[in-house]
Amino acid sequence: MKGIVLAGGSGTRLHPITMAVSKQLCPIYDKPMIYFPLAIQMLAGIREILIISTPHDLPQFKRLLGTGTELGLAFSYAEQPQPNGLAEAFIIGRDFVGDESVCLILGDNIFHGHGLATVLQREVQQLNGCALFGYRVKDARRYGVAELSADGRLVGIEEKPKDPKSDLAITGLYMFDNEVVDVAAKLAPSPRGELEITDVNNHYVRRGRAKLVTLGRGTAWLDTGTHDSLMEASQFVQVLEHRTGIQIACLEEIAWRMGYIDDDQLATVGKRLAKSGYGEYILSLLQKH
Ligand code: G1P
Repeated sequence: MKGIVLAGGSGTRLHPITMAVSKQLCPIYDKPMIYFPLAIQMLAGIREILIISTPHDLPQFKRLLGTGTELGLAFSYAEQPQPNGLAEAFIIGRDFVGDESVCLILGDNIFHGHGLATVLQREVQQLNGCALFGYRVKDARRYGVAELSADGRLVGIEEKPKDPKSDLAITGLYMFDNEVVDVAAKLAPSPRGELEITDVNNHYVRRGRAKLVTLGRGTAWLDTGTHDSLMEASQFVQVLEHRTGIQIACLEEIAWRMGYIDDDQLATVGKRLAKSGYGEYILSLLQKH
């Protein structure tokens, strides 16, 4: 399975902060935001990842992430010149995806929870059509929302409904079989002028080929859509890291634990970053080991 991280621009572009730096590069406590969705792809076992962003922001991502070789990964980059919608990722990424299945994650979606890696790897293995990840939220109106039948089956998804039919939001993490590239190619723009991921998802739902995986209360799905939620996400990460001494979304650690790089490769990156607490943390992993 290939991976795509969509770190596109949006209306927030006109805010002074996002004019200075891409939102997905803003710090979530001690890491750039994009580390969190990248961590999720890595934990799912995905190693070839396409990063899509605006022509203005893409060079910043390239500078930060490079080729991915140091992490045992292969990063590619592509531009999305206009914010034409999430589903455009499959049109832009068509050649990259080739004839494989694909996992799309939005660059501002943060997931954390016990057993999450196991769930993701299971869904990659069992994929038949598409896998969507639902999460209970207090105000579902801001998201794509699941509509369930009386016996709990997924029968449809509504994008930002005024009157949500459930409190299960469809999160910004999606796995699709290869048909998605053709589904996306045939989409028409929605009334807000975007190629909607919800239209792609509903295509699979109508054919009985969409699986809804509900992420339980032991999992956190955090939002970074507002300045407050950005701050809250930082506090969440800070509290957990302070309490346990374990880092969240340390890509080098994940690469090492997943067997993408060995002890020597981890030591090399750790030494290069040794003057920051980040490098010290990486080197301490080897000592504990
Ligand atoms: C997008 C999707 C929506 C999904 C959300 C998750 O919304 O359109 O279905 O629930 O991401 O973050 P947007 O962030 O574009 O408002």
